[in-house]
Amino acid sequence: MRILFIGDIVGSPGREMVEEYLPQLKEKYSPDCTIINGENAASGRGITEKIYRQLESAGGEVFTLGNHTWDNREIFQFIDQSHNMVRPANYPKGAPGKGMQIISAGSSEIAIINALGRTFMNPVDDPFPVVKKLVEEAKRHTPFIFVDFHAEATSEKQAMGWFLDGKASAVVGTHTHVQTSDNRILPGGTAYLSDVGMTGPYDAILGMEKEAVLKRFTTGLPSRFEVPKTGRAILSGCLIDLDRKSGKAVSIERILINEDHPFVSN
Ligand SMILES: [Fe+2]
Repeated sequence: MRILFIGDIVGSPGREMVEEYLPQLKEKYSPDCTIINGENAASGRGITEKIYRQLESAGGEVFTLGNHTWDNREIFQFIDQSHNMVRPANYPKGAPGKGMQIISAGSSEIAIINALGRTFMNPVDDPFPVVKKLVEEAKRHTPFIFVDFHAEATSEKQAMGWFLDGKASAVVGTHTHVQTSDNRILPGGTAYLSDVGMTGPYDAILGMEKEAVLKRFTTGLPSRFEVPKTGRAILSGCLIDLDRKSGKAVSIERILINEDHPFVSN
C-alpha cells in the first residue's frame, strides 16, 4: 500500500501547484491513495465545494482538514455528503462531517483519521482518547490506518506518534506549514513525520503575504493576512509505503518541489 500525502494547500498558488504537479507525482509514484490537507485551500481559510472538486479532478482522493475547517461557511453544504472529506475527530459532539473515513485504495481499504492538537490552539476535546477509539474501530476493517495530526507543538505531535506506534500505519503532522526532516519509522512500525509542510506561496510567511505579517511583528498594529496571488510556489508532501499484509510502515520519504528543489520525473 502506497500513500501520497500533500500538505496544506494554501490559496490559488497551492491549488495551481497541485494541478501542475500532482498528476506527475502520481505518474512517477503510482500511489494507491492520494490524500490532501485542504483546510487552507480557499484563500488560506477553509475550503469550498468548487475548490474541493478542483483538487479532486487534479487527483486528490481524500481530504483532511484542521483548525480552519469551518472558516468558509460553504463547508456546511457539502461535508455531510462527502465520502472523502475528513474533519478533526475531536470537535465536540454534534459537529457535522466525520473524523474518520474508510475508503477503497487499490485492492484494499484504508482508514484516514484527522485530529487537532490542543497546545497553543483553540480548545477542543482531548485528541488522544478520541484517536485511540477510532484506530481500534478502523482495525476491525483494515490494517492500513493513516492519521493527519493537525497541531502546533512538535512535542504534542511526537507524543501522538509514540502514542500510536504499532497501532496506526502512519502519523503525519500538518498545520505549521514548514516541512520537518524527521521522517522515520518508529520501533512498532508506524511511519512518522512531525510536519509535512505546505503547498502554496514560497516567498511568503507560512503562505501569507510577508508585508502584512512583517507589519504585525514590527509595529504590533493589526494587519489583514492575505495569500499572495502571484510569485513562486512550493509543493510539500510525503510518500509512505506500507507492508501489504501487516499495514506496518516500510518507508516514509519527504517530497519537496520548488525552484530550489525542482521536480525530477524519474
Ligand atoms: Fe491549520
